[in-house]
Amino acid sequence: MSATLTSPEPKTSSRLDLKIIRTPRTRAMPSASELGFGRIFADHMFAMDYEEGRGWFDARIIPHGPLSIDPGASALHYGQAMFEGCKAFRSKDGRVQLFRGRRHAARMASGAPRLGMVAPDPDTIHQAMMALVDFERDWVPAEPGTALYLRPTLIGTEGFLGVRPSKKYLFFIILSPVGAYYPDGLKPVRIWVEKELIRAAKGGLGAVKAGGNYAASLYAATEAQKRGFAQVLWLDAMEHRYCEEVGVMNLFVQFKDEIVTAPLGGTILDGVTRDSVITLLREWGYTVNERRYAFDEMVAARSKGTLGEVFGTGTAAVVSPVGEFGHSEGVLQT
Ligand code: COI
Repeated sequence: MSATLTSPEPKTSSRLDLKIIRTPRTRAMPSASELGFGRIFADHMFAMDYEEGRGWFDARIIPHGPLSIDPGASALHYGQAMFEGCKAFRSKDGRVQLFRGRRHAARMASGAPRLGMVAPDPDTIHQAMMALVDFERDWVPAEPGTALYLRPTLIGTEGFLGVRPSKKYLFFIILSPVGAYYPDGLKPVRIWVEKELIRAAKGGLGAVKAGGNYAASLYAATEAQKRGFAQVLWLDAMEHRYCEEVGVMNLFVQFKDEIVTAPLGGTILDGVTRDSVITLLREWGYTVNERRYAFDEMVAARSKGTLGEVFGTGTAAVVSPVGEFGHSEGVLQT
């Protein structure tokens, strides 16, 4: 890390009208082996406020640190909170590249209205991501398997206890240099097939990166972890048969000559890595179908010998092989 010193006077950049307040204390980037996922934060964050009638204002890069919000904020009481996750990589020639930032920005902007929230427009979100990564480029690690993870977040901040959409929002981005999401790196993960609890139903919030979707997953995930499984595979909410997504990953299954992933029907997240993997696989000549498939289809394929690769995709998890599914009636080795 280069030593960055305090600059008490705010600076302004033209496009976003960005104010910059530097931290008086910069920290050193830990070595790649110490990174893990999401435990270490870069020195600075981005923040911007919204008020009804005034729009978005006060775009700023400030020291990473605690937020001060009204305890009546709608994010705290009624779950008006959503986020994105994307990564910046350092390429072999040293350049820093944000992976599909515009697509992440568009997903946040289009998801916010479903939570009754107001997001900045996609271009502003993208500019904010680029400006912050550019400012903190020393925090982009270079070792293979590492990246700088961006966590753009939108929360309702108005202090008001009536149930209606907030009239004030805070959009912020924090940065975390990361290695592998799973502690065992790219070793095949063990996944628990959840046949009782559900993550999302048609018409609900499943396609939105709402904090509440993750809260809904935590109980089952904790129970699965107690049984030695890293993640939960969610099935459809109606019949509890069809594979949907794995909390932090979209799932891909190879049946003989076909690679299958669940369709985007409003209950699963439109994963950016999912989209990239579908595109690449098709370019490489594989048949990829976005269609419903039951967990039983995997079990049947396994016994016929036609079950091929099974893997999850996600920004944090990248492409992670699945080694085994556990469920109430037994275990399926892939
Ligand atoms: C991501 O891959 O960015 C995710 O959303 C997973 C995260 C919740 C760890």
